Amino acid sequence: MSQQPAENKLWGGRFTGATDPLMDLYNASLPYDKIMYKADLEGTKVYTEGLNKINLLTKEELSEIHRGLKEIEKEWETNTFVEKAGDEDIHTANERRLGEIIGKHIAGKVHTGRSRNDQVATDMRIYVRERLTQLLQFLSEFVKTILKRAEQEIDVLMPGYTHLQRAQPIRWSHWLSMYATYFTEDFKRGKQILQRVNQSPLGSGALAGHPYGIDREFLAQGLGFEAPIGNSLTAVSDRDFVVETLFWSSLFMNHISRFSEDLIIYSTAEFGFIQCADAYSTGSSLMPQKKNPDSLELLRGKSGRVFGSLAGFMMSLKSIPSTYNKDMQEDKEPLFDALTTVEHSILIATGVISTLSINRERMEGALTMDMLATDLADYLVRKGVPFRETHHISGECVRAAEELKLSGIDQLTLEQFKNIDERFNEDVKDVFDFEASVERRTATGGAAKSAVLKQLKNLDSQLN
Ligand code: ARG
Repeated sequence: MSQQPAENKLWGGRFTGATDPLMDLYNASLPYDKIMYKADLEGTKVYTEGLNKINLLTKEELSEIHRGLKEIEKEWETNTFVEKAGDEDIHTANERRLGEIIGKHIAGKVHTGRSRNDQVATDMRIYVRERLTQLLQFLSEFVKTILKRAEQEIDVLMPGYTHLQRAQPIRWSHWLSMYATYFTEDFKRGKQILQRVNQSPLGSGALAGHPYGIDREFLAQGLGFEAPIGNSLTAVSDRDFVVETLFWSSLFMNHISRFSEDLIIYSTAEFGFIQCADAYSTGSSLMPQKKNPDSLELLRGKSGRVFGSLAGFMMSLKSIPSTYNKDMQEDKEPLFDALTTVEHSILIATGVISTLSINRERMEGALTMDMLATDLADYLVRKGVPFRETHHISGECVRAAEELKLSGIDQLTLEQFKNIDERFNEDVKDVFDFEASVERRTATGGAAKSAVLKQLKNLDSQLN
């Protein structure tokens, strides 16, 4: 980058010396904030309407400005916008270009009462609103894909785990519904964050407020914001909406990482519950037999990078004095990177879950009788024995079966059961049925078919 005399810069008036070219590079945000070009032009369009409303721009000037803005938008869209040395960021680039198109006399009035401080905060909120809305749309489609699969495969049983040890039988759909529940909460959380993103800083000037009494409610409404932010100092300095969006992204990726980890484990030869489709797997350059679930590993791994963005930006914000400081320019790269990572992750996860195949025999074959030890304890509870006692008795049955080297507790004879506790009866054999075990969990949220179907329906109704 060539050295820039200060008079070429929009803020050049009081500067006489040239800046260090490395400083120009270090200071510039155009390489990454130009993706907000549309939000910036939209902000200027409505802002100039506000200026016209208080007679700081004539009707003719306003229509010239709008003509110029349209042309700039076309240039960005067709990749013909020519960046020039001195274009520090998207705001200065667009304003410089406007002057070239409609003349500096009119273009020079556009920034009356406005500062890049309220401008950038406005652009960021417009941009985040748009991206987040799109992400929530993708997220809702992802959850619906999970729900559809869960409904289709409602009859498949599998082991449920705690500590990664087989615990109790559940439905595969119950597992799917668990993640659908997490992701539906992410969806709802995103909607709530959108409400806080959607507040207008415009008309706050550099910090102290607008000197010409611009109608901030009019500006807010024109840009589709809910209301103006109530304090001009807060308006220009608040980046909580960026932090919240990064937190939202991090938590979503955290959920995705757990979802992926389960599926990676389930796809190992040792488990063999699922197989990732070829479209989302890759081979090994050395071992011909390998098929690796790279999609899932990337979904798991990228959670680290998104959380890094949140932690990094929190650190950038910490302790900076009021109000605008250049540190705040550091909001963009982590945010944009996180939004893109989340977007791609949702789309990949949707592809993975809609194309993976399950192996029902392996899932149900992994169920073992010891997983019904709790059901055996529950059997005696139903006969009036306190649970603490039945837990102990069931444990004795497990131990007896082990000592007798039986394949499971269901292999004990009625006599052997009665030796342990005389309250066991003929009907104890009914306990040893995985389907029956799952079907006993009819309470809200449980593994019974009716309960899972209710969950799916309830989640679906929350996605609109
Ligand atoms: N590029 C700057 C940013 O992203 C715009 C605001 C500049 N404001 C200023 N007072 N230098 O934060």
